[in-house]
Parts: sequence; structure tokens; C-alpha cells
Amino acid sequence: MHIDIITVVPELLDSPFGHSIMKRAQEKGLLTVACHNLRKWAINKHMQVDDYQFGGGAGMVMMPEPLANAIDELQTDRKYDQIIYMTPDGPRFNQQRANQLSMMENLLIICGHYKGIDERIRQQYVTMEISIGDYVLSGGELAAAVVVDAVGRLIPGVLNDETSALFDSFQDNLLAPPVYTRPADFRGSKVPEILTQGDPKKVEEWRYEQSLQRTRERRPDLLDE
Ligand code: ADE
Repeated sequence: MHIDIITVVPELLDSPFGHSIMKRAQEKGLLTVACHNLRKWAINKHMQVDDYQFGGGAGMVMMPEPLANAIDELQTDRKYDQIIYMTPDGPRFNQQRANQLSMMENLLIICGHYKGIDERIRQQYVTMEISIGDYVLSGGELAAAVVVDAVGRLIPGVLNDETSALFDSFQDNLLAPPVYTRPADFRGSKVPEILTQGDPKKVEEWRYEQSLQRTRERRPDLLDE
């Protein structure tokens, strides 16, 4: 999978993809991520990419020309499966959407800043909008990093144990069960016996029960879906 990201603060994306699973995905050649500074397509020598909003009101708006020129140029190299705009007023991101995006070849992600991007870019170019939650970030970069991470780890071959994503929280609309490692007795608190008795079938049943119980207690809304 290849992901292009358009941003006015590329520095914010220097680190998130350089470690751990995202790093491994790129080393294995399963994922490439390219960040593009929107100022490369600025409309003047002042590197302008934003302007006051028509109708008045506080806050700048990202201008349509730099974005359109950036997208047009990137589109000469690739046909994107989705052109995604990160925005708090989009549909909320979830595991189902991550699964769906992990099957795509080419994604373009636009990070908004200030008051957001000119509405005409949303109408003419954007094919999918994503919010990562009901709160407002200073820009779309951290949200884009969240999406790339959640999607990237689902690309087949990225995780070492191919099945492990299947047991993540949310994969079956269930939260993951509790996990334990050594020591078996930590300051008097013991690991549930069933996990140390070596009966895989019983362990599986226990985990499923724990998942159900956790989901009922913490996220009953998931069971309604
Ligand atoms: N940009 C600012 N806030 C955001 C959010 N919650 N989700 C996605 N993009 C954003």
C-alpha cells in the first residue's frame, strides 16, 4: 500500500511511522508513506496556502488552489482508491473502516489546519472524510497518523503472527480479554489459574467469556451493533 499525506506541518509526521510495526511494514516493502508539504504548491513567494474566510469570522481557511494543484500533481503518478480528508465533522473512524482501508492500494490523506479547507475541495476531490473522535485537534496530522497506524498494521504480512489482529479489541465488536505475563504471582496478585494449566480449549473459552464480560461492562453499545 502507498499513502501520500498532504500537510502544512510535515515535521509532525517525522516520527510516527519510523518505529515499531510501521517501521517494519515499510522495511518489508508492504507500506510506503510519503508526506508532502503543501507550501510546495503555495500561491505566492510568501508561501501562502491559507486566507481569511468569506463572510468574516475568526480563523483562516486553507485555499483551494494549492490543494487542488497538489492533488492534481500527485494524481498524475497514482490513481487513488480514496482521497481522505481528516476532519472532526466527518464520520467517526473505527476498526471496520480500518479493515476496509487496509485492502486499498493507494490512499491520499489531506490534513486540515486552521478553520479547515475550502468546501469546494471537499466537494470536488475528497471521497472520504474521517474524524478520529469528538474533539478538535490543532490539525489533521495526528489524526492521520492514527489512521495510518491502525490501517498499516492490518495489511497482510505486516504483523508477525498473522492471526494476532483477529484477536484485537473491536474485531468482533468485542473488547480484548485481559492479558498476563510473568511473574505468575505479582505482589500477591495471581494470574487466573486457567491460563497456567495448559488447556488451550479452556483458555479460548475463558478469553471469550472475559471479552464478553468486558464489553458488557465497558462498551455495551458495541453489543447492540
Ligand atoms: N482534525 C482536527 N480534529 C480532528 C479529529 N477529531 N479527527 C480528524 N481530524 C481532525
